[in-house]
Amino acid sequence: MRLSFLGPLVAAVLALANNTPSATQGSFVTAQGNQFHVNGSEFRWIGTNAYWLPTLNTEQDIIDTLSNMSAAGITVVRTWAFNDVEAIPVNGTWFQLIANGTTTVNTGPNGLQKLDMVIKHAERFGIYVVLSLSNNWNPRPLFDELTTAIDDLTNTVESRDLHRRDVTPGTNNSLPRNFLSNDYGGMDVYVRQFGSGTLAHDDFYLNETLINAFENYTKQVVTRYVNSTAVFSWEIANDPRCSSSIPASPVCSTTTVTTWHSRIAQHIKSIDPNHLVSSGNQGFFCPDCPKLFQRNTPVPQPSPAPGQRRQDVPAPLTKKSIIQERVARWKKTRAAAPRKEGGVQIRGRWVSTPTRRQADTSVGSAFDGSQGVDSEDIINIPQIGFSTFQLFPDQNIYGVFDPNLPDFNNTVDLGNRWITLHAQAGQRVNKPVALTGFGLVTQDNLPFFVPFNVSTAPFANDTTSSQGFGASSAPVTSNQTVGVTNEQQVDAYSQWLNTGIVNGLQGMMQYQWGQSGLTNQGGTTISPNINSTTTSPNQDETGQSPNDGYSSQSPIICAECTSERDSANFKLLLRRNKEKFQWTFDDW
Ligand SMILES: *[C@@H]1O[C@H](CO)[C@@H](O)[C@H](O)[C@H]1NC(C)=O
Ligand SMILES: *[C@@H]1O[C@H](CO)[C@@H](O)[C@H](O)[C@H]1NC(C)=O
Ligand SMILES: *[C@@H]1O[C@H](CO)[C@@H](O)[C@H](O)[C@H]1NC(C)=O
Ligand SMILES: *[C@@H]1O[C@H](CO)[C@@H](O)[C@H](O)[C@H]1NC(C)=O
Ligand SMILES: *[C@@H]1O[C@H](CO)[C@@H](O)[C@H](O)[C@H]1NC(C)=O
Ligand SMILES: *[C@@H]1O[C@H](CO)[C@@H](O)[C@H](O)[C@H]1NC(C)=O
Ligand SMILES: *[C@@H]1O[C@H](CO)[C@@H](O)[C@H](O)[C@H]1NC(C)=O
Ligand SMILES: *[C@@H]1O[C@H](CO)[C@@H](O)[C@H](O)[C@H]1NC(C)=O
Ligand SMILES: *[C@@H]1O[C@H](CO)[C@@H](O)[C@H](O)[C@H]1NC(C)=O
Ligand SMILES: *[C@@H]1O[C@H](CO)[C@@H](O)[C@H](O)[C@H]1NC(C)=O
Ligand SMILES: *[C@@H]1O[C@H](CO)[C@@H](O)[C@H](O)[C@H]1NC(C)=O
Ligand SMILES: *[C@@H]1O[C@H](CO)[C@@H](O)[C@H](O)[C@H]1NC(C)=O
Repeated sequence: MRLSFLGPLVAAVLALANNTPSATQGSFVTAQGNQFHVNGSEFRWIGTNAYWLPTLNTEQDIIDTLSNMSAAGITVVRTWAFNDVEAIPVNGTWFQLIANGTTTVNTGPNGLQKLDMVIKHAERFGIYVVLSLSNNWNPRPLFDELTTAIDDLTNTVESRDLHRRDVTPGTNNSLPRNFLSNDYGGMDVYVRQFGSGTLAHDDFYLNETLINAFENYTKQVVTRYVNSTAVFSWEIANDPRCSSSIPASPVCSTTTVTTWHSRIAQHIKSIDPNHLVSSGNQGFFCPDCPKLFQRNTPVPQPSPAPGQRRQDVPAPLTKKSIIQERVARWKKTRAAAPRKEGGVQIRGRWVSTPTRRQADTSVGSAFDGSQGVDSEDIINIPQIGFSTFQLFPDQNIYGVFDPNLPDFNNTVDLGNRWITLHAQAGQRVNKPVALTGFGLVTQDNLPFFVPFNVSTAPFANDTTSSQGFGASSAPVTSNQTVGVTNEQQVDAYSQWLNTGIVNGLQGMMQYQWGQSGLTNQGGTTISPNINSTTTSPNQDETGQSPNDGYSSQSPIICAECTSERDSANFKLLLRRNKEKFQWTFDDW
């Protein structure tokens, strides 16, 4: 979001900060049915992502950032509790050296003590921290060449340049270490450095030595915070799935990924019975995949309190129901659509493209198990306390675009539908559901946009005519323009948040927080050679937190702005309703 919009807004929001920080938190977060509870009451929240928090250069930077978040009404922040390196860096934070089949955890001042600092100050500001323990993604130079890979979206084998970033000092890379979320090590570092024969991403899930190494790291970190009430939950990994920067072996399936989740969740719970454990997967469904864990039979609902509606358990998701619903929806939008040129009349009825056949063909990669993720099986693992999913329409396909609607409406509608399906999945198993990251890239942010599986910005030199950038990342179902207007971003975020609130999501996190005024230091994430012209649309700011295309400073949403298209009016509306801008449920 453009900062000029937000200048007055930031000030307005800061004025609301008087009632924060809150006192220390009393009890651990628990799951009671499909609600989070703290201190015996329901806890619904709006949060944000800041994977880079422990890499900031000074304690004051961490305090300022958390303080700004708190002032915006944020009560939960998600960050990386891993930072794996293959050689000890000269400067900057690192948590674990993984090299040549051995591991060493750094508990020093540039190691886990940085994470201690984040937790300590988060507690002071009444912010809970979701700690993620690994990452699916880590593009590195070893494979920086044309590689045969299975495309995530089309499930076809293709030869492609994976655009991996060379992070060796003195080479071409312009972004410092830890700037991108996929530059913190993770699963592929274990695979590379333990040199397990096949060099497949899923060795991380299958090879005993690698599992053991990850369990060792997990044990150290989890033990460290076992008694901290500022930790919201343990997230097993960001976006775990079969393939990554290193491709998957042919045997990897939803069974592989679910089995591994079960093992790690049991491991964490055996060390730490205090905190909830979640997956961190992106929420792909696979109604047709074999299940390892029984779907819970619907829990009988107690009689509703007077004046309240009984909440019915939604019917299970099936391939058939997905297609039937789509056909019905397209029929409705076609009937409502203005008669487009190019449509045809058949037996007196107007038929625009597409035909029913097009709506029938497939359920798409978010529903067919091709990513190796069956989120419904994972949420049924007894040690998994709540469900997680993400929403990134610039990078994943959440269904088939309805040709009767403009691209933007498709993006928003499929997002709403995705949120609803996840809320229903949570109701079926009676566990809470959290949207752990959502974002839509704006035109302003487009030059800085780096998809999670690569390390270069594909639109860095092209802000005008950006088309979907191919099967490797963007939706391929249409030639949708990537990069919405600022107003559209606010519209989409508002609609998604509303959908989540109405459908009973327990928490939602914007991706990702933007912070300025941070301290630069050479060789660290916040480096002096990285300035606004290379990282942010906001040219006046220095010392900025990482921007991968989703960063927005004081990301604030206004429910009443949804119908507002005009940017001048938009600004006025923001000023007039400034009390409404906090990311809290109370104001909605
Ligand atoms: C929980 O209780 C503690 C102590 O009574 C209080 O300080 C804290 O604000 C409460 N937390 C929430 C989220 O209600
Ligand atoms: C790992 O082994 C390689 C090759 O023997 C060596 O160059 C490198 O320094 C080793 N790394 C560490 C951290 O020991
Ligand atoms: C740096 O990038 C340019 C353009 O992509 C390329 O031509 C050049 O070979 C690279 N230099 C190095 C040292 O990798
Ligand atoms: C697991 O990885 C280790 C290297 O760390 C390797 O020696 C071993 O052969 C691998 N096991 C299998 C079954 O691939
Ligand atoms: C895990 O930790 C145990 C106990 O400290 C150690 O014996 C084992 O070698 C470690 N495993 C790996 C793969 O580092
Ligand atoms: C956590 O609290 C328990 C119970 O009070 C105590 O036994 C344990 O030593 C504490 N663990 C740490 C790491 O502080
Ligand atoms: C598309 O979305 C815009 C903005 O939310 C809305 O005003 C418009 O009515 C939608 N068009 C259709 C055909 O649904
Ligand atoms: C992108 O723009 C920069 C600066 O204008 C230029 O140096 C670079 O060569 C361009 N890269 C490509 C791939 O066009
Ligand atoms: C996208 O654009 C390309 C080039 O203009 C065209 O060949 C392709 O058919 C288009 N794809 C779709 C789905 O419209
Ligand atoms: C927000 O962060 C800035 C640094 O960018 C700091 O100067 C300011 O005091 C912070 N505001 C609050 C309310 O913490
Ligand atoms: C590391 O930090 C020091 C200052 O503490 C600085 O002099 C040095 O240039 C930095 N190293 C790199 C590689 O940027
Ligand atoms: C910002 O970065 C650009 C491009 O690397 C560079 O030319 C410029 O001098 C930098 N400005 C500052 C203030 O560091």
